[in-house]
Amino acid sequence: MTVHFIGAGPGAADLITVRGRDLIRRSPVVLYAGSLVPPGIVAEAGTEAPGDAPRDIRVIDTAAMNLDQIIDQMKAAIEAGHDVARVHSGDPALYGAIAEQMRRLDALGIDYDVTPGVPAYAAAAAALGTELTLPGVSQTVILTRTSVRSSGMPAGEDLATLGQSGATIAIHLSVNNLGFVVRELAPHYGADCPVVVAYRVSWPDERIIRGTLADIRDKVKAADITRTALILVGRVLDAGDFDDSRLYAADHHHVLRPPVIKAPDFPAFWADCVNQGRIDDLIALYHEGAVLMPTFSPHAAKNREELRSYFTLLSSRDNLYVKLHEKTLDCLRTGEQSYVINGIYDFKFSVDGTLQTFPSRFTFVIDLGEESPILHHHSSQIPRTLT
Ligand SMILES: C[S@@+](CC[C@H](N)C(=O)[O-])C[C@H]1O[C@@H](n2cnc3c(N)ncnc32)[C@H](O)[C@@H]1O
Repeated sequence: MTVHFIGAGPGAADLITVRGRDLIRRSPVVLYAGSLVPPGIVAEAGTEAPGDAPRDIRVIDTAAMNLDQIIDQMKAAIEAGHDVARVHSGDPALYGAIAEQMRRLDALGIDYDVTPGVPAYAAAAAALGTELTLPGVSQTVILTRTSVRSSGMPAGEDLATLGQSGATIAIHLSVNNLGFVVRELAPHYGADCPVVVAYRVSWPDERIIRGTLADIRDKVKAADITRTALILVGRVLDAGDFDDSRLYAADHHHVLRPPVIKAPDFPAFWADCVNQGRIDDLIALYHEGAVLMPTFSPHAAKNREELRSYFTLLSSRDNLYVKLHEKTLDCLRTGEQSYVINGIYDFKFSVDGTLQTFPSRFTFVIDLGEESPILHHHSSQIPRTLT
């Protein structure tokens, strides 16, 4: 028998996960935090419980219970041979007080598992139709709360300290502490910084109050919102101007969107990566298990770590530049997308202030059907001819 901790999501019955809903249906005993989880979420409790359990279905609102009473209920259900669904609002890992319940269950030898849920901050962002991480505006979301009557905040996690980051902040359990929130954040974010107070997101009586740090307090007071509201603060909330994400930029390539390269252009593409110091892109070109016989080291580089240390050292050379001799290229097709490409390039970089050239010959064995196409790369300085 198991206690299933389940994230109910923000409130709407169709915002719980399928797994969470199914566990509630299969559990004849359901404990839920009634102050934050609407009864609709647990309406189907035990309807698919095994055996004759449906006659014994128990749905218990724990809002008025203390920890000992909650654990007693779980223990009694487990001893009677019933699974228990323990339903928390949003995601149970955020201010769910599940850790202390788990500790008690550990001591009693009772099994449990956790099913995540949609947290309030994500539901609020969805209701606003906004992104909390806008490039060039904020790339960090801080999930926090303030201390009113509950446990104090650990040192260094006070709002004034967190606010120094300028990140988007989602403040829980604090709508009654809005004056404090405004006082702490205004010096860092500016009085004109947008604020949203999202009340009972996804519930039938959801309300969204928009304002700034200067006026949000009056607006929330006028709306008479005193509980179950999330405070979002940050420039992302009305940013008209933000950068496009690099992730979807046409010239940004990654494993799932590799550049379309024709085989004869491959050495030039490789040289561009070197010349632009794009070490990550360079390493990503080498297939798992590929070997690089490098120009400036007696040791073969056989994995990503060795490739990184070789290319990092090479890139540290002053005025490093690879010049490809296009006319020397020889491209042999060996399979559908496999090629052996030979040719000559010069490595140029400064040694003791003098620009030097190291003519080198190379062989690439590549498979352009692979996300990391280089299967083998040999590169060595052109030897002197013996007379
Ligand atoms: C005990 S915490 C639980 C947080 C929850 N575990 C989560 O993942 O969002 C309760 C606080 O979460 C926020 N909250 C939870 N559900 C909400 C909802 N539907 N709308 C707005 N805020 C909500 C409020 O700040 C509320 O005071």
